[in-house]
Amino acid sequence: MTKRQLKLGLVTTGVGGPGDSNRWLDPEIPVDASVNIDWYIDIVRQAEAAKFDLVFIVDSQFITADSPPHYLNRLEPLTLLSALAVATSHIGLVGTLTTSYNDPYNLARRLASLDLISKGRAGWNVVTTGDAGTAGNYGRDEHYDYATRYGRAFEYLDVVRGLWRSYEDGALVRDRDTGVFLDKTKLHALNHKGEHFSVVGPLNIQRSPQGEPVIFQAGDSEQGRDLGAKVADAIFTHAKTIEQGQAFYADLKDRAARHGRDPDALVILPGFTITIGDTDEDAREIQRAHRRADQSFDQALGEFGRAFGWHDFRQYDLDAPFPAAALDHAKTSFFTQAKRITEIAVARGFSLRDTIEFVRDQHTGPFVGSAETVAAEIARWFEGRAFDGINVHAGHPSQFRRFTQEVVPLLQRRGLFRTQYEDTTLRGNLGLPGPALSA
Ligand SMILES: Cc1cc2nc3c(=O)[nH]c(=O)nc-3n(C[C@H](O)[C@H](O)[C@H](O)COP(=O)(O)O)c2cc1C
Repeated sequence: MTKRQLKLGLVTTGVGGPGDSNRWLDPEIPVDASVNIDWYIDIVRQAEAAKFDLVFIVDSQFITADSPPHYLNRLEPLTLLSALAVATSHIGLVGTLTTSYNDPYNLARRLASLDLISKGRAGWNVVTTGDAGTAGNYGRDEHYDYATRYGRAFEYLDVVRGLWRSYEDGALVRDRDTGVFLDKTKLHALNHKGEHFSVVGPLNIQRSPQGEPVIFQAGDSEQGRDLGAKVADAIFTHAKTIEQGQAFYADLKDRAARHGRDPDALVILPGFTITIGDTDEDAREIQRAHRRADQSFDQALGEFGRAFGWHDFRQYDLDAPFPAAALDHAKTSFFTQAKRITEIAVARGFSLRDTIEFVRDQHTGPFVGSAETVAAEIARWFEGRAFDGINVHAGHPSQFRRFTQEVVPLLQRRGLFRTQYEDTTLRGNLGLPGPALSA
């Protein structure tokens, strides 16, 4: 039996995502990084040279003036990943696409195209959209409620996977001698009629070398966890402590087993900002400096409303008890996150100011130290089954360089991480079984 191997992903939020309003002031980051294809190619090639499994592109489709800089002006994921596909050869290409504001036929087709362009490296981060304001960009007065969001998502996955199985392998004969292009017995219509979708099929594109794109999932609610455990190949999440990571890991693997799945075929990948210094104290100083520089309190206050449907928290007294009634505004938004924050604020008697500071602290990850310390901590979490791998937030370019050049070799020396890609497909590199050939 081969030793369990750590998986590594790269998360890029160019000029700065949540918590990083001022990251673009770093002279190493082009001020247009989030729309600059040359910058993306450069950083993704760095990750590929370090043998990373994948790059993960986050997305949403609603902005306000308080949105993080990367969100204000960024490339659409599938367009971006198609360009990255021809500039790289092995790294997996995972894009966030919502089941709430896309039609399944169109999305199945676009992802299958990326899968063929990349020769089997496409992945789909299935989200249901947390930014409720997106509704207004798609002709709806209100975002779907949770039950509908996840009801659609479950059915959506069935439809998309069904469409991806329209052609059996070998259906496209393309034999010039016999003049046979298609074996008609191996092309299947879908004829799906469900509660939310009605799709006839078949899809007009064949399968890729990895069978079909790898499914990632990132919802944290009960419904989100169930969706992930039932249909996903891999889960994106967050973890602040090893205990939290272990609890989430055990819960998701347990849910997968209850759905009759092999728990090892579900890869758990929390995301972290990692801070590396020459010594542990140096790293802590870098982390403190980044925390001070990357976002002011006022910027954090503006951004804080996002989980609560972009509710304006500037209207409240900062030093009065946290306004718990604001949770009402999160009902169709990032409710799980908003509820957790509200519960903590109430339980600990936080003011709004305390709560903002608490959330700012959440952005500082648990991996801080010299390269040796960070590698040892990653090994401890991995071996303690707090994760199967991690998504490394690229953050400041000098830090990402230190991770690839100093921490990755230490993980390789420990026998935890590959020195060569095992496969040319994302599914193969993640060690995932191939999908069934027919629905
Ligand atoms: C690690 C992680 C990454 C996520 N990335 C995105 C994203 O890029 N776009 C998005 O709309 N939602 C994203 N989400 C949000 C979820 O998909 C979901 O919509 C949100 O968490 C609210 O649903 P929930 O209450 O089921 O978690 C992410 C969540 C997590 C935990």
